[in-house]
Amino acid sequence: KPTRLMLGIETSCDETAASVVALDVDGRPEILSNVVLSQIEEHAAFGGVVPEIAARAHVEALDGIIEAALQESGKDLAEMEGIAATAGPGLIGGLIVGLMTGKALASVSGKPLYPVNHLEGHALAARLVDDVAFPYLVLLVSGGHTQIILVRGVGDYERWASTIDDALGEAFDKTAKLLGLPYPGGPNVEKAALAGDASRFDFPRPLKGEARPDFSFSGLKTAVRQAATAIAPLTEKDIADICASFQVAVGETLQDRVARSLTRFRGMFPGQQTPTLVVAGGVAANRAIRAALELVCERNGFRFLAPPMKLCTDNAAMIAWAGLERLRAGIEPDEAMHFAPRSRW
Ligand code: KG4
Ligand code: ZN
Repeated sequence: KPTRLMLGIETSCDETAASVVALDVDGRPEILSNVVLSQIEEHAAFGGVVPEIAARAHVEALDGIIEAALQESGKDLAEMEGIAATAGPGLIGGLIVGLMTGKALASVSGKPLYPVNHLEGHALAARLVDDVAFPYLVLLVSGGHTQIILVRGVGDYERWASTIDDALGEAFDKTAKLLGLPYPGGPNVEKAALAGDASRFDFPRPLKGEARPDFSFSGLKTAVRQAATAIAPLTEKDIADICASFQVAVGETLQDRVARSLTRFRGMFPGQQTPTLVVAGGVAANRAIRAALELVCERNGFRFLAPPMKLCTDNAAMIAWAGLERLRAGIEPDEAMHFAPRSRW
């Protein structure tokens, strides 16, 4: 039996991405190429992703990115066993571009199309690089999502928690913006925080101690705005102190919220040998956040797994991988060519 190959396409937000992933006879995956074109510069002037600009940029770039991914992998389209494209959730313009391109390639090559849920891509990405047995928990913290997902198996997911207002990445980005830090805000808040005094501001820990498992970040952002307004004009030191205090509040909030789901998991799967929490999404790049999560996992006897950043942020390798997982599990993509992109899914 030959190695099985999958082409992945990702266009749900502001990254145009394509990748070829292989699965060998022993079930070992290998990323043959993982090409990501970020549109950060196109959107920076607007302080956030502009859907119309994103869609146009995907149209312009996607052909070349797919070509590059195939070339880098040393394979051609005819060798693929399938084509996996993100079908949602995300910005509808980009989803249309990616899914329609996937359908066109599937049609001309006669290969099956796998419409992939972007969140499923994030949820399964860890299995591309590590031994992670089902069931496990995923904390997805990106610019668009903040959720805890129970992954029972391929295609078998349960959302345990989500944000009731802002996504965590969004809270970072908005905080950066109101402090005058450049877009994207997350990395700049982290950088500024390094020189800051985290004990100067006592920001709220939204929903801390509450029984419901969800997240909330808009109150935190409001508290930052009030603190910043009260001491304006801000010095560099003020900004650093606010960022450091903000990150500590976020870290403690996450620990409290995540601990609830860890406890629930333990009760549900008491026999699970190595209960695992996988983190995904752009905010996972933040060292302070990672350290906070590591600690809460340690306290609860969980293994903490953070895949390499290239697989945590938006990429097409995780989409190709989700396709391969389905292929391997024998889940047929029936009616895939009639699958319509879903901005909400
Ligand atoms: O997963 P991602 O690349 O794209 C999606 O949102 O789908 O995540 C981007 C988000 C942005 O909100 C960005 O500010 C945040 O992740 N982020 C960070 C850091 N790096 C990226 N947030 C905090 N600290 C960071 N170092
Ligand atoms: Zn994402």
